[in-house]
Amino acid sequence: YLPYNMKIAVVGTGYVGLVTGTCFAEVGIDVTCVDIDENKIENLRNGILPIYEPGLEEMVNRNVKAERLHFSTNLGEAVKGTDVVFIAVGTPPGQDGSADLKYVLAVARGIGENIDSYCVVVTKSTVPVGTAAKVRVELEGALAKRKANIEFDVASNPEFLKEGAAIDDFLRPDRIVVGVGSERVEEVMRRLYKPFLLNGHPIIFMDIPSAEMTKYAANAMLATKISFMNDIANLCEIIGADVNMVRRGIGSDTRIGTKFIYPGIGYGGSCFPKDVKALIKTAHENGYQMKVLKAVENVNETQKEVLFNKAKKHFGNDLKGKKFAVWGLSFKPNTDDMREAPSLIIIEKLLAEGASITAYDPVAIAEAKHTLGKTITYAKDQFEALVDADALLVVTEWPEFRSPSFKVMGHLLKQKVIFDGRNIYDPAEMKQIGFAYYCIGIRT
Ligand code: UGA
Repeated sequence: YLPYNMKIAVVGTGYVGLVTGTCFAEVGIDVTCVDIDENKIENLRNGILPIYEPGLEEMVNRNVKAERLHFSTNLGEAVKGTDVVFIAVGTPPGQDGSADLKYVLAVARGIGENIDSYCVVVTKSTVPVGTAAKVRVELEGALAKRKANIEFDVASNPEFLKEGAAIDDFLRPDRIVVGVGSERVEEVMRRLYKPFLLNGHPIIFMDIPSAEMTKYAANAMLATKISFMNDIANLCEIIGADVNMVRRGIGSDTRIGTKFIYPGIGYGGSCFPKDVKALIKTAHENGYQMKVLKAVENVNETQKEVLFNKAKKHFGNDLKGKKFAVWGLSFKPNTDDMREAPSLIIIEKLLAEGASITAYDPVAIAEAKHTLGKTITYAKDQFEALVDADALLVVTEWPEFRSPSFKVMGHLLKQKVIFDGRNIYDPAEMKQIGFAYYCIGIRT
């Protein structure tokens, strides 16, 4: 006997799976999170998380203690008696940029081999249009092999959470999108999500291909806003306009909106680069060219080099023997995620020119070492990184970098030079205190 209204399983304990499972447990649903990685599961049982996400560790521990959240490597056991099984395993980009579905389909087979009563199998990972249909085929195949006559449905429920703000995004979503094929599934999914809809935000039901497409269209639109603003920023710099002013000027038009129009050093992370590539690929395979998205990608690649180009120009094209301090390594603040981080490109280019680097990041150093190893030095704090450096590069806008003592910085740095990829300082103030200050989209 379980005192819970619903029982679900979430397969895959990456970002999406772990946050999904934990937040469902938080609202009183019995959740088993499954992963094939025994080490990961053992750690999770002991409260050790594979990722850094603000607030998640406490929430995991609280729900494990309350015995609503369980971790298991046994998919077969976990899916028995569940109302819903989420597939939230990775879909890494294949060599050609398309999403590799082998993990998703293997899990679908595993579910089909083990379910013992009606359940809804939901794809939560970002998957190309047509994947839920493939999941259905795998399940049917596995059930036929067992000669089991068990009913099931598939659904597509893309996730829109942002790393660093994942819990809040999940608990208070702008909207929930669910692709379904029958009223029976709709009823199950409505019941499951009811606790998250108290703020009046909608659950939008649609057909399955449209739900799958919605996820890609959302990320592609956001990536487009960023690349567009980066293009505008570069032009502002050339013609002597201030992109911060322009941003405020256009953002106050509610049709444009104030969010995701901050210029910078290009978008990174595990989602935008991968999803933009995958959508271009899907279109191409279907005989259509995504002209806008190709430009979005192109602008993003060049934008990752903007800070490096500024540094090279400042030092008269010669960076040999120059020492740079780097503040921030993760692709954005509040995460230790280094996937497609612009810092990696900037550092690679500086090293290739014979420069040396001391970097500081509040949480991503351990993660960064997997890729960067001993090619750079790591500082214990942001000020240690500055000692004897010829310049500082602000790469990730962690809050603690926003208001440092420029006086102290001026003493520690060999030269008072800052390349700011995130526009966190005031150009006028920097000029007044004698720093050479370069940022994005403002001629300084
Ligand atoms: C993104 C989406 O925002 C989520 O809605 C989506 O669920 C997620 O991908 C996903 O598909 O899983 P995330 O990658 O965590 O979330 O990070 P964002 O906060 O969206 O930032 C992405 C990149 O864009 C970062 O490199 C950030 O620095 C950059 N960015 C963001 C800008 O350069 N300018 C902006 O105005 C906003």
